[in-house]
Amino acid sequence: MLEFKTINPEQTIAIAKQLGQQVQAGDVLLLDGDLGAGKTTFTKGLAAGLGIERYVKSPTFTLIREYQDGRLPLYHMDVYRLEETGASDLGLEEYFDGNGVSVVEWSQFIAEELPSDYLTIHFNKDVRDDQVRTLVLEPHGAHYEALVRASFAD
Ligand SMILES: Nc1ncnc2c1ncn2[C@@H]1O[C@H](COP(=O)(O)OP(=O)(O)OP(=O)(O)O)[C@@H](O)[C@H]1O
Ligand SMILES: [Mg+2]
Repeated sequence: MLEFKTINPEQTIAIAKQLGQQVQAGDVLLLDGDLGAGKTTFTKGLAAGLGIERYVKSPTFTLIREYQDGRLPLYHMDVYRLEETGASDLGLEEYFDGNGVSVVEWSQFIAEELPSDYLTIHFNKDVRDDQVRTLVLEPHGAHYEALVRASFAD
């Protein structure tokens, strides 16, 4: 586990950008945290690290947005709306098994569709300062341990 404290959105974006420069085809990142915790902000930085220049907008209403103008495709999902229904039938596995990088906000609502290995990033808001966040990177599987090491080697 690796932990970062950020004191503004730019710092969260900078961390995500480092990861975005190292992610590989087929990688799955799960972003977990409350409303407004910074999951979409982080995804903007990840996209920047992939060289994506298109504006990254929250997929809250569309479930998924795809960006094809970077080093790898980015599949950005926000499955908040699937809390009641789940995601069976939607074919999300095709994204997870695809050649892009999948980023999922609120992945707990599609737990049954997820692959066995992934990188979870937990976002925690500070109770005292609304600009402060703690990010905890938790890799599941050797591939994601190596990804975290490569991204944040100092
Ligand atoms: N340190 C920080 N890191 C990230 N975002 C921050 C930080 N400080 C303030 N913010 C602000 O918090 C908000 C985070 O919103 P964002 O849409 O990224 O959250 P989210 O986790 O995707 O929420 P949702 O679950 O509703 O999709 C943004 O307005 C951002 O500017
Ligand atoms: Mg969001």
